[in-house]
Amino acid sequence: MKKLLVLSISLLTLISCSEDKVDLAKYTKKGKEIAQNTQKLLGKNLKGTMKAKGPVAAVSFCNTKALPLTTEMEQKYHASIKRVSDKLRNEKNEGNAKEKTVIEQFKTSLSKGETVTPITQMGKDGKVHFYAPIKVGAVCLTCHGTTLAKPVDSILKLTYPNDKAIGYKEGELRGIWSITMDKEN
Ligand code: HEC
Repeated sequence: MKKLLVLSISLLTLISCSEDKVDLAKYTKKGKEIAQNTQKLLGKNLKGTMKAKGPVAAVSFCNTKALPLTTEMEQKYHASIKRVSDKLRNEKNEGNAKEKTVIEQFKTSLSKGETVTPITQMGKDGKVHFYAPIKVGAVCLTCHGTTLAKPVDSILKLTYPNDKAIGYKEGELRGIWSITMDKEN
């Protein structure tokens, strides 16, 4: 009888452990989808504005629309969506302690030439936390690179006097997506 009890307890633990894994994979998929679609929405609008009105107008666009568009996606997906960086342009995008640790972790991996993949974890708050890297691509350099065109530099300095988000090279870590999802029952 005792043996049976031990056996069933270990079986139960096994089952719940594997259930946890399946769960996390599901949230990783959802987190990726949310990050990609938010990136797409921001990117589409950014590139459209750059093409139609130039980079200076695109800076104003990012200034007034990046956060509201992100909020739209939060409502669509019933999740909290943050773009966090260790070198901030808008101070509203500052990360918490955990997010800062993840940024350091991703940066270390990248510096070793490793590929960085998203992290999904159950939080102590009972919510699921998803973190994914945001890397610098060629289009980003217009506003986050080492040499900026004069008008872009001027508008950035005017809008963000404490701007730290410049001096990047392609492939570097610009920041992370931090997405918090409710656990589904
Ligand atoms: C036209 C200029 C412009 C381009 C191009 C641009 N950004 Fe930005 N970026 C901004 C501005 C302006 C902000 C601040 C937005 C705000 O005030 O909410 C910003 C903010 C960010 C943030 C939030 C963290 C912070 O520092 O406030 C991230 C992450 C980011 N950009 C990544 C990127 C990536 C990745 C690319 C390329 C795919 C890119 N940006 C291209 C202008 C630009």
